[in-house]
Amino acid sequence: MKFSQLSRLPILRIATLTERHYSEVVKKEVFLKIRGLEKSFGEQRVLKGVDLDVYRGETLILLGGSGGGKSVLMKHMIGLLKPDAGSVIFEGKDLAGLKERELTFARHRISMMFQSGALFDSLTVKENIAFPLRESGIKDKAEISERVAEALTIVKLPGQEDKMPSELSGGMRKRVALARAVVEKPCCVLYDEPHAGLDPVTADSIDHLIKDLELDHGITNIVVTHEMRSVFRIASRIVFMKEGRVHWEGTAAELKKSSDPLLKNFIEGRSDESWD
Ligand SMILES: Nc1ncnc2c1ncn2[C@@H]1O[C@H](COP(=O)(O)OP(=O)(O)OP(=O)(O)O)[C@@H](O)[C@H]1O
Ligand SMILES: [Mg+2]
Repeated sequence: MKFSQLSRLPILRIATLTERHYSEVVKKEVFLKIRGLEKSFGEQRVLKGVDLDVYRGETLILLGGSGGGKSVLMKHMIGLLKPDAGSVIFEGKDLAGLKERELTFARHRISMMFQSGALFDSLTVKENIAFPLRESGIKDKAEISERVAEALTIVKLPGQEDKMPSELSGGMRKRVALARAVVEKPCCVLYDEPHAGLDPVTADSIDHLIKDLELDHGITNIVVTHEMRSVFRIASRIVFMKEGRVHWEGTAAELKKSSDPLLKNFIEGRSDESWD
């Protein structure tokens, strides 16, 4: 072996190890740490001890039957609901213990596209998207216009600032709601049923937007959806909730292979009732 080859060897080895180490660290950096989360409404126990890690930069899908507590769990992830027990740790702090000002700051970093996706009908698209910016105290008109235009470009609706929500299709309304969720440049976006009521082609375009946010902007996505095509398209990891707890977690490939009857029925859309 020549000297030049010898001298290159250790450098190559270090580079390989560093790359591997880097990818492991990046994939496994816990972004949200949820432990023993419990929540009841009156007599109804909705969350019964949820343990879950969300990793930075992943697209995590939350699956589970209707009424199982997915939206309630999401609301705990942005501190909109306070748990009866347990914690949601974000950047070393329990969201439940934050003062209102600190919580407002956390909400600029984690934003949510709500299940209803509600836009204010009396406000233009621009005013809707600018709403969180104004809430944060940004008053500069040029800055607001620039940020709104940028958000509309991200959701592929450039130049639609002056439309009213009533003039938009369902898919466009979802995009505007997404623009509002990303206008503050959050590091994490929570989507509660972003595909509800959309045709398959529009749902596909929402999936592209969600995945682009992960891949191009490094955003951590947490998505509740019942749309299995979307799950298999965008999931880095899937969590299946049952009766207020995490029942299963794994990748899309693992979900497809799973022999768990509950998961199989869910994927195939089968209830206990027979069609015979
Ligand atoms: N603010 C509230 N007050 C009282 N009960 C509530 C409240 N929020 C949620 N619940 C109850 O908690 C349970 C779980 O609700 P949640 O909205 O989290 O379900 P989900 O898993 O998101 O269902 P879906 O898939 O239908 O959206 C439901 O029975 C619901 O009625
Ligand atoms: Mg819900």
